[in-house]
Amino acid sequence: MSSANSTVRLAADNVAALDGASVSPIKESVGSYISGYRFNGDSISEGFRAKMRDLLHNRGLVVFAPGTVTAENFTKFGGFLGEFFDYAGPHTPRAPDNPDATVISAAKDSHLRNHVWHADGGFRADAPAFTALFGKAVPKNGGDTMYANATYVYESLDPLFAQYLDSLQVIQSPDATGHITDRYLDPEEAAQARLRMPPFEMPLVRTHPVTGRKWIAINESYVCYIKGVSRVHSQNILGILFDIIKSPEATCRFEWEEGALAVWDNRVVQHRAVKDYSGDATRLLYRCTMTA
Ligand SMILES: [Fe+2]
Repeated sequence: MSSANSTVRLAADNVAALDGASVSPIKESVGSYISGYRFNGDSISEGFRAKMRDLLHNRGLVVFAPGTVTAENFTKFGGFLGEFFDYAGPHTPRAPDNPDATVISAAKDSHLRNHVWHADGGFRADAPAFTALFGKAVPKNGGDTMYANATYVYESLDPLFAQYLDSLQVIQSPDATGHITDRYLDPEEAAQARLRMPPFEMPLVRTHPVTGRKWIAINESYVCYIKGVSRVHSQNILGILFDIIKSPEATCRFEWEEGALAVWDNRVVQHRAVKDYSGDATRLLYRCTMTA
């Protein structure tokens, strides 16, 4: 990574008052924490919505303190960011108390692969822009979620290396690391899933449509290889990028609080769960995903 970090642009956290709420950075390069705001279950001001989007577009992750939303109304809150985009497959159940939410629970889904770095829906060319994740029940210890700012990573690279990456295309697939093979055990279902979600080509570096900032768009879950170079070349370049993405400088770690809401922009951050909690612990999160 370049030491010239002065070129890295980070949005100010205190972008004026957010309807009385206070905003603080989680880490220097990624994430903001908002407390003192309560969603009334009905509407938010246009100013609040615009500032929330600005933080998401630039700092990637916004965590709202417990008490901001409920398990029943967080989807309406998330819906102010865009249209619901439900890409979940047959293994992802609906939340019993919120039909717009799906349940993320290792206890309910033994093939859950959320502990590998990924962007939600990143195996599709039309992946959702935003994810909202509500802490319904969280372990006393462990089960954090980690986030890495892939825009910060790109902007921290040596410019010549970044320029080289700009020229590369990659092949993405949900089965790059066995997402279909491990989950769709019936061969016919697996074949259907592969037809539904075929591999596709995309640039390794992509540009955020709102900010115009570039981000490293590959992750450990869904990239197969860099097109047009040898396997060794591809693996080594991807390995360098994966190492930088998970570096302490680019990441933050959110310790879940019951009732907290984490919202992020999948075009800025990638994320992973930390699978360190005991088998008896409950880690039950509700999710909805939205278009831009
Ligand atoms: Fe995820």
